[in-house]
Amino acid sequence: MLGRTHQASPIFPVSQSYSAAAAQAVCATLGRAAVCGRAIFQVEFSLSRGSASRGRTAVIVGAQWGDEGKGKIVDVLTQTFSVVARYAGGHNAGHTVIINGKKFILQLVPGGILRPECISVVGNGVVIDPLAFLKEVASLRAAGVKVDGNLFVSSRAQVILPYHRMMELGSENAPGRVKIGTTSRGIGPAYEDKMGRRGLRVADLLDSQLLRTHIENACREKNMIAHALFNSDPLDADKMFGEYADAAEQIAPFVRDTALLLNHALAEGKSIVFEGAQGTMLDIDHGTYPFVTSSSSTSGGAATGTGVPPTSIDTVIGITKAYCTRVGSGPFPSELAGLQGGAQGEDLRKRGNEYGAVTGRPRRTGWLDLPLLRYAGMINGISWLVVTKLDVLDHLTEIPVCVGHKVDGKETDEVPAQACGYEKLECIYRKMPGWASSTQAIRTVEALPKAAREYLAFIEKETGARVGMISTGPDREQTILVPDFISELGLKSG
Ligand code: IMP
Repeated sequence: MLGRTHQASPIFPVSQSYSAAAAQAVCATLGRAAVCGRAIFQVEFSLSRGSASRGRTAVIVGAQWGDEGKGKIVDVLTQTFSVVARYAGGHNAGHTVIINGKKFILQLVPGGILRPECISVVGNGVVIDPLAFLKEVASLRAAGVKVDGNLFVSSRAQVILPYHRMMELGSENAPGRVKIGTTSRGIGPAYEDKMGRRGLRVADLLDSQLLRTHIENACREKNMIAHALFNSDPLDADKMFGEYADAAEQIAPFVRDTALLLNHALAEGKSIVFEGAQGTMLDIDHGTYPFVTSSSSTSGGAATGTGVPPTSIDTVIGITKAYCTRVGSGPFPSELAGLQGGAQGEDLRKRGNEYGAVTGRPRRTGWLDLPLLRYAGMINGISWLVVTKLDVLDHLTEIPVCVGHKVDGKETDEVPAQACGYEKLECIYRKMPGWASSTQAIRTVEALPKAAREYLAFIEKETGARVGMISTGPDREQTILVPDFISELGLKSG
């Protein structure tokens, strides 16, 4: 994997006007409220060149097809990180959390919300369904979770409207179209409108006149298209306007220029976790296209999806299960299928409770695919890996791992650009010894069975990334934190 190189001192001399000392003076003189965009630019420009006073940052990214358990690592990092920012996707994502014994599925609201001292940001790269957002906020409030003054939504985030769902359902069910197996949340059509420069942003949602015109025009157009292509029933623009104007009023207090907010936070020395949604193989550019989601779920999306410059990203943490799952259609080279595989696949599904948090669909299961993990490392710049659900493999006496790919009998490092390219791809397996004993709730590497330590060491050797955290059960406490990971990220060990 391509680890980050830490630059102790700048290669090129930095001019006096952009020195770290000058940057601190800018902050100190202007204070938080008065820091203007220009000053922020100078601070960022300076801090990205080696000052220690900028807040730390880490991107949490799924290294597989999503559902790797990113929520838990975000939860661990919020012990010491001040801000959590979502940068891509929408309410297609879902991570399960337990608050006061009650189970919640967070879909749009970042994991930081569970710690009242943490600021949670829904960045500009996210597509937000206002009704889904308000529903989530209401259920958090009802559970006594603080959401006022600590949760902010970007004024530049795109809005999902009912016609996005109508278009998606029509398209997914239309004969002759490729069925992606989406979450039916309107995510793809909302990103289509964004890129087509005809989307509605959160700032526009708050502008009642603009909202009415936008909904009227869009409904006219989408109703015609959906009727012609999919024979869908038309949507009522007036009713839609009423509902969304009402939602806009409720959302208004959360709306901010979050790029400014995040850059201020960094300049003030606050640390930020960028919370990825979905995973590398679902990325619109780098995933198994067209069986992907419609956003940049890889680490590069953290910069464009929040307005924080790429030069401010310190660490990329890739999350992988100890095995592999995928939900929805599309290539999955190491999938367990067929007779014997079917039974083993079902076994993994049951032991790992592999059912979608959002849709409840059973996940497809398979073995760890190291070539794809190396690919995820390359695309994201992963330096630390977190291995989740190690305990799901506890019953096995041997664990097959995909160590290479072959096409036409020749080994290759290249990941196919076409979905049909995966049909020719063959996995080379190596059987690792299993540990056939419980690792549940183990909290130190030393206490793991020897074969489990060897399994993790093999992942490190094959990917070039270090394993910094291992999850040995669903609970916050069922976690192993590696000392170097703790010290690099400034975490508490207990
Ligand atoms: P969409 O994001 O709803 O458009 O769905 C596109 C593909 O991404 C489908 O295969 C979904 O199952 C998959 N997908 C979207 N979000 C998630 C997620 O959070 N976890 C796992 N798969 C997801």
